[in-house]
Amino acid sequence: MKIIHGGDYNPDQWLDRPDILKEDIRLMKLAGCNAMSLGIFAWSTLESREGEYHFEWLDGIIDSLYDEGISTILATPSGARPPWLANKYPEVLRVTAEGQRRHFGERHNHCPSSPVYREKVAAINGRLAERYGKHPAVILWHLSNEYSGACYCPLCINEFRTWVKNRYGDLKTLNHAWWTSFWSHGYSDWDEIEPPSPLGEPMLHGLNLDWKRFTTQRTLDFMKFEIKTVREKAPYIPVTTNLMGTFEGLDYWELSEPLDLVSWDSYPSWHGIGPVSCSWCDWDIDGKDWRLASHVAFTHDLIRSLKKRSFLLMESTPSVTNWQPVGKLKRPGMHALASIQAIAHGSDSVQYFQWRKSRGGFEKFHGAVVDHVGHENTRVFQEVRALGAQLAELDGVVGALVKSDVALYFDWENRWALDDAKGPRNDNHKEYREDCFAHYYQFWRRGIPMDLVDRRADLSSYKILIAPMLYMVRGETAKKIEEFVSKGGTFITTYWTGIVDENDLCHLGGFPGPLKKVLGVWAEEIDALYPGETRTFTMKGGNSLGLRGIFKARLLWEGLHVEGAEELATFDSDIFAGMSAVTMNRYGAGKAYYLASRNEELFLDEFYEKIILDRCPIQAWPEPLPEGLSVTQRIHGETVYRFVMNFTDRSIKLKIPAEYVSNKLLLGDRTEDSIHLKAWGFAVLRDGPG
Ligand code: GLA
Ligand code: ZN
Repeated sequence: MKIIHGGDYNPDQWLDRPDILKEDIRLMKLAGCNAMSLGIFAWSTLESREGEYHFEWLDGIIDSLYDEGISTILATPSGARPPWLANKYPEVLRVTAEGQRRHFGERHNHCPSSPVYREKVAAINGRLAERYGKHPAVILWHLSNEYSGACYCPLCINEFRTWVKNRYGDLKTLNHAWWTSFWSHGYSDWDEIEPPSPLGEPMLHGLNLDWKRFTTQRTLDFMKFEIKTVREKAPYIPVTTNLMGTFEGLDYWELSEPLDLVSWDSYPSWHGIGPVSCSWCDWDIDGKDWRLASHVAFTHDLIRSLKKRSFLLMESTPSVTNWQPVGKLKRPGMHALASIQAIAHGSDSVQYFQWRKSRGGFEKFHGAVVDHVGHENTRVFQEVRALGAQLAELDGVVGALVKSDVALYFDWENRWALDDAKGPRNDNHKEYREDCFAHYYQFWRRGIPMDLVDRRADLSSYKILIAPMLYMVRGETAKKIEEFVSKGGTFITTYWTGIVDENDLCHLGGFPGPLKKVLGVWAEEIDALYPGETRTFTMKGGNSLGLRGIFKARLLWEGLHVEGAEELATFDSDIFAGMSAVTMNRYGAGKAYYLASRNEELFLDEFYEKIILDRCPIQAWPEPLPEGLSVTQRIHGETVYRFVMNFTDRSIKLKIPAEYVSNKLLLGDRTEDSIHLKAWGFAVLRDGPG
């Protein structure tokens, strides 16, 4: 098996240039590419008028690629539709939340409920599956493109009412769950229910939450329908769709369920300056690509965790996007490093958007392997080519797994509810995702692999479970966590946890609601601080964690009472002076920690150092890593592949620990006892048989 190297290929833009199509194949081979994604936006070429199909061009492309050893990842074209379809059947277009039918245009603008759209998608998908389903070149279905968005047409509203009816059974239950007695919203008929809208009701949290759940379910329903259309004729070709990392709009744990494998599109803004677009860290990212690298790593780990198996990096740019505020080119080395980072976290591919720059249209200045100049003598092409040769050394990595005994809880429903809630602050400094990054970072920089999980996960294989701001806690989630801790697990959570149930109704009887018992605390009040304001807390002498010193809290802090837990630290001043800042509760064979405030990075660093010492999780590198370095590992039976990555712009010499000296160097430079990393350089080691 080979690491897939390739990208989105749009020969449909060049059908009048056979010379270019021929040249493409020569260049693909030169760049070490072995798979191309075809047909993603080719519907109007494949079916130029209703029922008039043209597959000959695609036959030719798939065959000529295959003859040269290049496989095809074949897309279903539902991501963008031809004008004739929208014009003849306007119901295929979306309706906005304001109730306005959109016009033909852009892409990702279809109603997932429209019977006509489904009929037309089934017709084209079925023909593609019939024609190419047995073609040895076709290795994977690329379903649609970046599913996203919602439709508010009468058909979708009807589906929503049915979905709500199935969920609640009767209106009394629904009215209770949505707490509709507030502002006189009690529903007396299912037909009164409308989706959230700026013109109607945007502030009923239960409704908002259910609309988001429903949007995921509608998308899932559409995607499953697409899967059926291709599976009928081509049952053996696996299916994927390209996800968008931590995209807020869809619960990816749900969406990935019917997929054979997941893939995602990664476009970090490398080499940024100023504060990164993430509020918790306040990182001055000036030249510090490793800060961003840790965020990207988080996303790779999330995507891998969705199916707990290797994934594909379906899109990345070899140089630059055309849509980021500042279109900064990747500096030499960055492209290879970012690509290797994906592999290091579980990807079995490096793929690009796009193979060749389009001549016109919205993306004509988006980075591509082949530039408008048309030949291989460009910096970007040569970097891609060099990477292609390096990837060929990593075939053994395909399918290798990441083993981890630390899990971080990342739950879309929690995120939706938490971010939508009014209070305890509404100024963009509540973000759930960013808070999760803060905890993740401490493991990333120590080379400790981490899985992400949500409420569905089997926790039995983990030693440490971290759930920052677990605002929404269902009864069964609390039971799961209790069981995890009682069997010896270490659980860590924070302020603003255990506030609501799955309907966004507050837990009565004290926060953190159903987690009170396992945590042994009661959070009486939460206070918000202005950005820049801080409070301090002091670790108590002789605390069981052995942590000392005074640390800063900011943005959110709570008035916490211990109810059985050990108090490890107390706040020093102001309204919560003398109250608990950090606690630990022994529960069964395990420990449950509560951090009552959002704390400075120094605290998380020292806190996790102690936790790691206590639990000794799997570590990819047994010694402390210099700032900006990351190490991960992937395991195949007896063989461990170690990826050492330098996200700084300096060259670094890293001493190889004694136990790794016998590792074979697959990529990079080393002497007997050291690895030599260039600026944005990397090395790959293999421990065990190849
Ligand atoms: C997305 C899309 C691609 C392309 C790229 C540009 O990921 O899937 O079609 O538009 O963005 O970065
Ligand atoms: Zn619709």
